[in-house]
Amino acid sequence: MRKIIFIAFLSLWSSLGHSAGSSYPLDHVNIDLSDKASLQRGAKYYVNYCMGCHSLGYLRYNRLARDLGLLEREVEENLIFTEDEEGTPTKVGELMKIAMDDFYAEKTFGVVPPDLTLFTRTRPHGADWLYTYLRTFYLDDSKQWGVNNAVFPNAGMPHALWELQGWQKAVFDPADDKIITGFELVKPGAMSPEEYDQVVKDITGFLAYAAEPAKMQRHKTGFWVLIFLFVLVFVSYILKKEYWADIR
Ligand code: HEC
Repeated sequence: MRKIIFIAFLSLWSSLGHSAGSSYPLDHVNIDLSDKASLQRGAKYYVNYCMGCHSLGYLRYNRLARDLGLLEREVEENLIFTEDEEGTPTKVGELMKIAMDDFYAEKTFGVVPPDLTLFTRTRPHGADWLYTYLRTFYLDDSKQWGVNNAVFPNAGMPHALWELQGWQKAVFDPADDKIITGFELVKPGAMSPEEYDQVVKDITGFLAYAAEPAKMQRHKTGFWVLIFLFVLVFVSYILKKEYWADIR
């Protein structure tokens, strides 16, 4: 019995450990993988605002083109900004890797910015986490980049989208200065808060797609499989009636 209690305690402890660092509640985001326009916008924001630091090393540009309903030429012109050491632009059949080397990254940020291809799948509540993360950077002079984050306290990442969101201050619980109860925009960015939320939703949707490109295809295939089964049931039923009509 003591053993069981000990194990239960251990597992409770480790589950607490996973969420340690932040008690900030995650906002829920509804991702619609069939909304191609949103995924296309997400891809555009991603390559412009995130890919300087985070690669998507398991996704190829031409796969992205096909899945998001873009022409390869459009992807080449609007989404590929990287090149190799000789200055040849990255080809559309290549993986979405970046050139930042780990040594430089570590010196600048203290950590290497992780590849984000699988992020929404590997992090528990990954989409909600990301959606909340990108909307909860707040000013904090004590940090290297002048910002801190509600769901990822002491994150080593600058506020990449500050031009769009602007700068906000955290409002703390008067009874406990560790608990964030809300935010106050002190310097507006180029977008209204509603527009900014949509941008973050687009990026989150795009990364949810990147984590599982086959999901889109599966949903489509599933639909036709169901239609096929319905037709099959119908035909079988008619066949059965026809068959038994002569026997009775
Ligand atoms: C200037 C470089 C830089 C840019 C631009 C940037 N990031 Fe980051 N990001 C980092 C670094 C560095 C970390 C690691 C922080 C740490 O572990 O303390 C990080 C961490 C993250 C994490 C958490 C990863 C984890 O496993 O905990 C996510 C998610 C993330 N970034 C998403 C984004 C998105 C989305 C964008 C674009 C809107 C973006 N980042 C733009 C540098 C950057």
